[in-house]
Amino acid sequence: MQILIANDTHIGYAQEICDTIEESAKQRGTGIAKRTPEYITTKIQNGNAVIALEGTKFAGFCYIETWGHGKFVANSGLIVHPDFRGKGLATDIKKKVFEHSRKKFPDAKIFGITTGLAVMKINYDLGYEPVTFSELTDDPSFWNGCKTCRNFDILTRNEGRMCLCTGMLYDPVEKEKNKKAQHKHKYDSKVLTRLKNIKESLFLNKEKKKEKESKK
Ligand SMILES: CC(C)(COP(=O)(O)OP(=O)(O)OC[C@H]1O[C@@H](n2cnc3c(N)ncnc32)[C@H](O)[C@@H]1OP(=O)(O)O)[C@@H](O)C(=O)NCCC(=O)NCCS
Repeated sequence: MQILIANDTHIGYAQEICDTIEESAKQRGTGIAKRTPEYITTKIQNGNAVIALEGTKFAGFCYIETWGHGKFVANSGLIVHPDFRGKGLATDIKKKVFEHSRKKFPDAKIFGITTGLAVMKINYDLGYEPVTFSELTDDPSFWNGCKTCRNFDILTRNEGRMCLCTGMLYDPVEKEKNKKAQHKHKYDSKVLTRLKNIKESLFLNKEKKKEKESKK
């Protein structure tokens, strides 16, 4: 398996990357920001993407976005093709894109929002901490990306303060200050699973109730 900074020779994979992201979101039944092949192509051309290939077969992808005039960087669009899941590939791709982001944008805070427990675990192991949305970028173009997510109305209803996604942040300044300090708490999948369940029952049940009432 090769995990590379994507270049022009990988542009031909853009459509397959988008299709795999969309198909996986459908299967999970979760919301996801929609990506176009043109957008993915730009990421590849700018040296802001990581691709994993098994021979010539597409195995995985992730890209870098910058927000708030470079103060924030997000590692987004992580996808592992179903044939290659459960083998640690997402962990390796995220590690590569994280290291690339640190080199290319050393002063930026790195963040992500996700409903995926696997991604929360990977981010946590890289040094990210769960944070409230107010600690993330306030760049409207980042949050506009959520418009194509099926849960966007939940974000709007909560005035952008919370949604089903959990925000996670790697702050290089904080990390420098506490170089030797590990995470304050050990990773506990139960805590994040509980948080996810609470949010889902809080936001999605409210939604269902509303729907029922409007049908009455
Ligand atoms: C999420 C995804 C990227 C994981 O890819 P993967 O290569 O199978 O992940 P890894 O094998 O590197 O697993 C990473 C860790 O997450 C855990 N994990 C994997 N899937 C999980 C799940 N569904 N729930 C909870 N934990 C999970 C693994 O056990 C592993 O933990 P470990 O390090 O303690 O063993 C892949 O399933 C995928 O592409 N899904 C669809 C798209 C998606 O959800 N993208 C994220 C959007 S934010």
